[in-house]
Amino acid sequence: MLAINLKGKRVFVAGIGDDQGYGWAIAKALAEAGAEVLIGTWTPILKIFTTSWANGKFDESRQLSNGSMFEYKKVYSLDAAYDKPEDVPQEVRENKRYADSAGYTISEVAAAVAKDFGTIDYFVHSLANAPEVKKPLLETSRQGYLAALNASSYSFVSLLAHFAPIMNPDGAALSLTYLASERAIPGYGGGMSSAKAALESDTRTLAWEVGRKYGIRVNVISAGPLRSRAARAIGFIDSMLEYSKANAPLVKDLTAEEVGTSAAFLLSPLASAITGATLYVDNGMHAMGMAVDSEALLKSQAATV
Ligand SMILES: NC(=O)c1ccc[n+]([C@@H]2O[C@H](COP(=O)([O-])OP(=O)(O)OC[C@H]3O[C@@H](n4cnc5c(N)ncnc54)[C@H](O)[C@@H]3O)[C@@H](O)[C@H]2O)c1
Repeated sequence: MLAINLKGKRVFVAGIGDDQGYGWAIAKALAEAGAEVLIGTWTPILKIFTTSWANGKFDESRQLSNGSMFEYKKVYSLDAAYDKPEDVPQEVRENKRYADSAGYTISEVAAAVAKDFGTIDYFVHSLANAPEVKKPLLETSRQGYLAALNASSYSFVSLLAHFAPIMNPDGAALSLTYLASERAIPGYGGGMSSAKAALESDTRTLAWEVGRKYGIRVNVISAGPLRSRAARAIGFIDSMLEYSKANAPLVKDLTAEEVGTSAAFLLSPLASAITGATLYVDNGMHAMGMAVDSEALLKSQAATV
């Protein structure tokens, strides 16, 4: 039987804030395969995440197929917008959601993981942020655009630069992108489409660089729409879910679990020759060049009957 067996492997998943997003589904799939999971949670929401976990809010989602519960080994406070303590602006340091936390910059988290566990095998980047995501690109400020790139793309470059040295050879890294990087998706604004394009391009360059330097693979999953907390903040996720179901080759909901199992495959030795790739896990939506439910199309078809 061909199965994904990640027993003895350790993964760091950056970008879990609740049980609704892709990061959670990926971490859970890796735990199902036997991997040990470390989590990086955004500093301002760490407390609510750990409290919700302790209060049993995620218990239903934590059920694994063998009857046991998904557990993490350790959760780290992480703000992937900062590389080192000196980068954190005074007002952020003093903000009440940061004031109780320390060691949340990328270099500090990587050093803490090295101290706590020595090495990891896999790294997952499942985070994005754009303060002006609701604004069209044309109305996005320079500051908003750069903030999107900083949190959503450069964060992966920096995280990999800091974690690759503590990754075992044959390790792998993964991030999450969206079709708006290569096709215009009105509403996906604030420079997020640009940030995803950068993330995909960086995947190829980083695959080359860390492949040669450390023997590590780097891939990116282009996922279809999911009703996560981040997606709800953009504001049109329900329309995207409807649109995808009406127009994608596969007429079904896309589940976070499907992205989770694809991620487990891409990280696992089953994908040992795959690096620098963008894998579409979107019910085939990326392959379409026509909206088959378009009013204009239906009208013209009706006229020819
Ligand atoms: N939901 C979708 O429709 C969809 C589609 C394609 C790709 N994606 C991508 O999937 C990934 C996960 O997003 P999701 O939709 O599952 O939502 P999510 O809300 O579960 O995950 C996003 C996470 O990023 C964290 N985050 C934001 N800024 C951060 C920072 N500076 N440092 C550390 N963490 C930070 C948030 O706290 C949150 O936990 C993102 O890269 C997203 O762009 C989502």
